[in-house]
Amino acid sequence: MRIELATTKSWTGKVWAALMFEGDSVPLGISGNDGRAATQTGAAERFTARPKQTILLRRNDERLIVAGLGKRNEYSLERVRAATARILKRCEEIGATAVGLAIPEPSDIKESLTEFVAATVEGAILSSYRFNKWRTPKPDEPPPVANLTLVFVNPKTKSAAMAKRVNEAVAKATAVNFTRDLVNEPPSLKPPEKLAEIGARLAVRGRITVKVHHRASLEKLGMGGILRVGAGSHQPPCLVHLTYTPKGRSKKTVVVIGKGITFDSGGLSLKPGSGMEYMKDDMAGAAAVLGLFNWLAKVDLPITVHGFAPLAENLPGGGAQKPGDIIRQYNGKTAEVITTDAEGRHLLADCLAYGSTLKPDLMIDIATLTGACVVALGDEVSGLLGNDPATIAKLIELGKTQGEYFWELPLFERYKQHLKSKVADLKHTGKPGVAGTIIAGLFLQEFVGEGIPWVHIDIAGPSFTKEDWDYLATGATGVPLRTIIELLRSL
Ligand code: BES
Ligand code: ZN
Ligand code: ZN
Repeated sequence: MRIELATTKSWTGKVWAALMFEGDSVPLGISGNDGRAATQTGAAERFTARPKQTILLRRNDERLIVAGLGKRNEYSLERVRAATARILKRCEEIGATAVGLAIPEPSDIKESLTEFVAATVEGAILSSYRFNKWRTPKPDEPPPVANLTLVFVNPKTKSAAMAKRVNEAVAKATAVNFTRDLVNEPPSLKPPEKLAEIGARLAVRGRITVKVHHRASLEKLGMGGILRVGAGSHQPPCLVHLTYTPKGRSKKTVVVIGKGITFDSGGLSLKPGSGMEYMKDDMAGAAAVLGLFNWLAKVDLPITVHGFAPLAENLPGGGAQKPGDIIRQYNGKTAEVITTDAEGRHLLADCLAYGSTLKPDLMIDIATLTGACVVALGDEVSGLLGNDPATIAKLIELGKTQGEYFWELPLFERYKQHLKSKVADLKHTGKPGVAGTIIAGLFLQEFVGEGIPWVHIDIAGPSFTKEDWDYLATGATGVPLRTIIELLRSL
């Protein structure tokens, strides 16, 4: 989708759109006759500008689509994203492929106009995402909206700073859609080496470097977790290490690690058949890391970012790891395997230990790690565990502004006893059905270097949705990339 900026004078399109607060007499940025017409027709159709409501008005060959934002005192950027998405849906219904969205005076909204505009852009790009690569469109399928013009009623607000913020929003939403594409891709078409190739293409001269560790290199490093988990597949495992270096002096170093199981069959501890198709999303953490670098390639940040995507296919082939095996992780600690379906933690353990050697100011790992997290928090809330309460609080707060929801679970010390093994330094799981997400978090903590602030994000629920959300179509959601981006922007 093309996003352009224009003013009321310069825009000549025929399909207009605007957002509107409940209780207002005119839509935002639409004044005079058009605005009154909107409310009059609205009254007839009982359009009161509640969230989810839209109305289509006609005047000669012109159209005006108005979408409700709900009450002024309930204003949020999430509502702006959702309302913009509804406008585009309405455009599709009437066959409009270009639309001009009225951008009001700053005084018309309570909070920043810049953020309002950024939210419309995000809502537009995220909601127009379709994973159509592998299907033939139906003949009556309306084409998506190709052009969104932001029509500023006050030319002064169409500033260079505004244009820059729009570009940032485009970069962010595009990165999220890039992540969604990777997660939605069929599992056999995205084996570890293929994803590594995609990761390698994210390198940007002078800013982003990439190193892919293949089998031999992983052996040399001693990354037993990645190697053993990947041993049951013909597709070899690998580790992508991306590094973003700022132009000027680096203020902080952040490590972001994402679980990249390109398909999780469970291995020899085979999963039940029902729903196994969703296990193509077991690389959503790694996809978020690659998406993060897709975004980093386009922005300037004063921090160093290391991204790790450990990639493996968890299959029960002849070389597969077995229950009873003992894995030696990167930091030398050994872990007893009880079920080969608890594979993700071994990839993360290698990377957390390796990442710790970089002495980061913050280390985050992102993983579709436990079904238990979906039981605890449902499919719209990600779990947070870690030793850094400030970052955890920040993720929860930032997440609310992004429509990505997080909640903390405790790293309850006494449960560490569940990880005691008689044959290795650690057992990798606890008792079946008992605090699975917390136990996984406690296991990971064993690989985090002394004194390193660390947060683990369990996205088993929200990384993928089986039904359309407000402005996200069924499939991969890109969670938690938008919140991670905002976190890095805030550092
Ligand atoms: N990839 C799964 C977790 C998962 C489950 C993600 C549902 C998305 C939706 C993970 O590798 C796994 O299988 N975990 C086991 C751990 C258990 C054996 C301790 C689980 O959650 O059952
Ligand atoms: Zn598994
Ligand atoms: Zn898994």
